[in-house]
Amino acid sequence: MRKIDIFDSTLRDGEQSPGFSMNISEKLAMASMLEEMGVDVIEAGFAACSQGDFACVKAIADEIKNSYVASLARCTEKDCEIAWNAIQNAAKPLLHVFIATSDIHLKYKLKMTREEVLKSVASTVAFARSLCPEVEFSAEDATRSDREFLREVLQTALNSGAAVVNMADTVGYAQPDEMRELVAFMKANLSCDRDWKLSVHCHNDLGLATANTLEAVKAGADRVDVTVNGIGERAGNASLEETVMALKTREDVYGAYTNVNTKLLVPASKKLVMLTGSKVQANKAIVGKNAFAHESGIHQHGMIEDRRTYEIIKPEDVGFSDTRMVMGKHSGRHALEDRLRELGFQGLKPNQLDDIFEKFKLLAEAKKLVGDRDIEAIARMEVLNIGEIYKLDKYVINSGNILSNTCNIRIARNDGRYLDGFATGEGPIDAAYNAINDALKIDIKLLDYMIESVTGGTDAQGAVSVKVLYRERTVKGYGVDINIFEASIAAYLNAINTIENDPNGTIIGT
Ligand code: KIV
Ligand code: ZN
Repeated sequence: MRKIDIFDSTLRDGEQSPGFSMNISEKLAMASMLEEMGVDVIEAGFAACSQGDFACVKAIADEIKNSYVASLARCTEKDCEIAWNAIQNAAKPLLHVFIATSDIHLKYKLKMTREEVLKSVASTVAFARSLCPEVEFSAEDATRSDREFLREVLQTALNSGAAVVNMADTVGYAQPDEMRELVAFMKANLSCDRDWKLSVHCHNDLGLATANTLEAVKAGADRVDVTVNGIGERAGNASLEETVMALKTREDVYGAYTNVNTKLLVPASKKLVMLTGSKVQANKAIVGKNAFAHESGIHQHGMIEDRRTYEIIKPEDVGFSDTRMVMGKHSGRHALEDRLRELGFQGLKPNQLDDIFEKFKLLAEAKKLVGDRDIEAIARMEVLNIGEIYKLDKYVINSGNILSNTCNIRIARNDGRYLDGFATGEGPIDAAYNAINDALKIDIKLLDYMIESVTGGTDAQGAVSVKVLYRERTVKGYGVDINIFEASIAAYLNAINTIENDPNGTIIGT
């Protein structure tokens, strides 16, 4: 059996796509989940891209011990220096240098000749190697590049000290048989007197990212770039969970394995949803909420006789917890703690557990049975609520179809002061948000508001996600409560607390 390296780019290719941006503590939380899951490489970001990216890559490099921590760098010495400064304290640093190789990119984007690209690869990879013991080189748009030129570029990178050469299907153009053939060609025609690895990076523009990745493995690729939930530029990247489970389930076809603990696939997927607020579709393979649901009578009958009739993977093998266990007001703290761990909330601090337990008990009083989704929603709010500076004390909302919407609100500050506000609004939530702005004397604009029911039933909790704009920064907020006004207020205050807790943030409402 061949070992296939998992190079995870959730925090770089994934994070750079719209709707998936994460702050430093969110990225750290995701990185430690990836490390626990056993991925070989965590691509933590693109250090030269911005100061914020640099800080995130450095923080992850300082923290992670078992996986390589990579920073992306364009093929310039300056980028490599910045990337190296960010990752040099990592237990296992990896410098990831890339340049495009297709004629269309050379002509219109790089404005370089093929000779200039070859020279740049030779000198920059050698420079990167002088800084960092482990260098990976990627050819961007490799699948639309001239085959012989691509081979020459990859060979140059290997000759200059790269340990891994990677071919990117940057625009998701390749077909599975083309990818298999390309990998087989490079395996046969590249050489190096050191150990070296061939890798692929597939995008999903034609829905083929995972298929192309698997074909590459068949043809001999040693490493694959993937992301949790398949997030990434445009239609995304090959999905980590699909790739890992295809290799595991069809070991007979691939003769390969990964070091990923598959029981953490669902917790990792959920953690990413929690941190970014972007959901996965219900029918998403492996981690979608319907991935193991059997609706039709014929299927259900088959499942009762023998699960293998309609199930090729056991849900528990990918980390779906046993949903038959429901919790109620008599459940204890230990049971809740175990449940939280199964749901992906490892490493909660004792005070966080106390808060979650208190909210769980209140909910269990109001609702007879508390399901996993309720517990997740409460825990998510707790994890996202770092440093509660402002808290709801009390409020009155007046709303109806014969009067204007008004809100009186009192916000408690963690220094013991109370701030009162009053406002009218287009609707009750608008009035509440205007009243908070009035109380805190701030000018925050609501960009996005989403409410959904955590479970079915009229006693369901409402989960509210907001995006607000404050001084050119977009900040997320999340709140959950059986009372949807309180969930809405909590989400807005969560966004405000996030702004307040940012080390570069401005103290507002003083
Ligand atoms: O899609 C791409 O080409 C990339 C490279 C930087 C590897 O993400
Ligand atoms: Zn990419």
